Amino acid sequence: MNDLDALLTPEGRALLDEVRGTEPARELAVATRLRREHPAELVSAALGQTRLRQRAAAKFGAEDAGRMFFTPNGVEQSTRASVAAYRAERFRALGVTSVADLCCGIGGDAIALARAGIRVLAVDRDPLTAAVARANAEALGLAGLIEVREADVTEVDTSGFDAVFVDPARRGGRGRVFDPEAYSPPLSWAVGAARTAPRAALKVAPGIPHEVVPAEAEAEWVSDGGDVKEAVLWFGTEPGAVRATLLPGPRTLLSGRLPDPPVRTPGRYLYEPDGAVVRAHLVAEVAGLVGGGLLDATIAYVTADELRPVPYATAYEITDVLPFNVKKLKALLRERGVGTLTVKKRGSAVEPEELRRKALPKPQGTGAVTVFLTRVAGAPAMLLGHPAR
Ligand SMILES: C[S@@+](CC[C@H](N)C(=O)[O-])C[C@H]1O[C@@H](n2cnc3c(N)ncnc32)[C@H](O)[C@@H]1O
Repeated sequence: MNDLDALLTPEGRALLDEVRGTEPARELAVATRLRREHPAELVSAALGQTRLRQRAAAKFGAEDAGRMFFTPNGVEQSTRASVAAYRAERFRALGVTSVADLCCGIGGDAIALARAGIRVLAVDRDPLTAAVARANAEALGLAGLIEVREADVTEVDTSGFDAVFVDPARRGGRGRVFDPEAYSPPLSWAVGAARTAPRAALKVAPGIPHEVVPAEAEAEWVSDGGDVKEAVLWFGTEPGAVRATLLPGPRTLLSGRLPDPPVRTPGRYLYEPDGAVVRAHLVAEVAGLVGGGLLDATIAYVTADELRPVPYATAYEITDVLPFNVKKLKALLRERGVGTLTVKKRGSAVEPEELRRKALPKPQGTGAVTVFLTRVAGAPAMLLGHPAR
């Protein structure tokens, strides 16, 4: 019996309940005690699963993660619940009632789709991963809506489904895979599959070059809490549209196909666009909203004279604009009694941690300063300020 099957037996489930919440430091003691009454392999499987659940809580929340099952890769590769729920809601709003989830992993997306009331065929070719997805559908009471099939997605008939969703594996033996043709299955296969269904969404890496987005697709970059999570190519929505969606919210910024914003001298405010906005190339849209321009033609910092709060960028009030100089920065921080220095950078090779160590070896007071290392009209510069109130 494999570990998963063993954990799904009444003894396995009871053991999982018993070791729930075990802290890493206590694992050895707990294992020693439990091995007196249970097989050693089952005890280590339960402790291993508990560790995975603890790791997965960041993505799925402690309550769901505490009932679900994971593999190390499955936790790593799964879509976080907030992002999956947003996508599922988009499918639902499009009138989709059934989805073929091709490359379902441990079921992160399938679960969100089912919770949106959508019927799901969830396919993965890895036997253990598919079994875990099945256990998760069961554990969360969604087995009535999710059918898990262990198969190669290239051999699955998806006719009859309202939509296809593909989340290819993007990690090879040596870390993340950047070339979309090196995804498993390759992006070109996923695009072909998308074209066979009335609607489709393909999850891709946020760094996907805009040139490879097919003309009939919509491209959406999604961030959650300021971190860019993914890009999605939608088919059967708005061909050519580009959007950045920020979670929680959702707040969506659509491309207006604006020309590049003008480069201008630094104003009183600096706006740091959300990563999804930057990846979606929608910095011009943010500059338009705040009435600003760029500090440098190639860098995604917007500067403006007025404070116009927008959800797509964080605004900072700038107090100083200086040529980059560590000694000068150190002197200024001392003079102003700074205790906390936040270093942000775009277009600078400086290592933030190293700069912080050199410029503020020890707190000089209780003040807080944010320093932006960037270029102003081509020259290395530092802008000092603080979040705008
Ligand atoms: C990124 S993960 C999917 C994560 C999933 N969306 C989630 O939220 O849990 C990709 C999955 O694709 C599967 N896979 C890769 N190539 C496949 C193929 N040709 N057929 C079926 N599954 C495949 C891998 O086994 C892996 O579990």
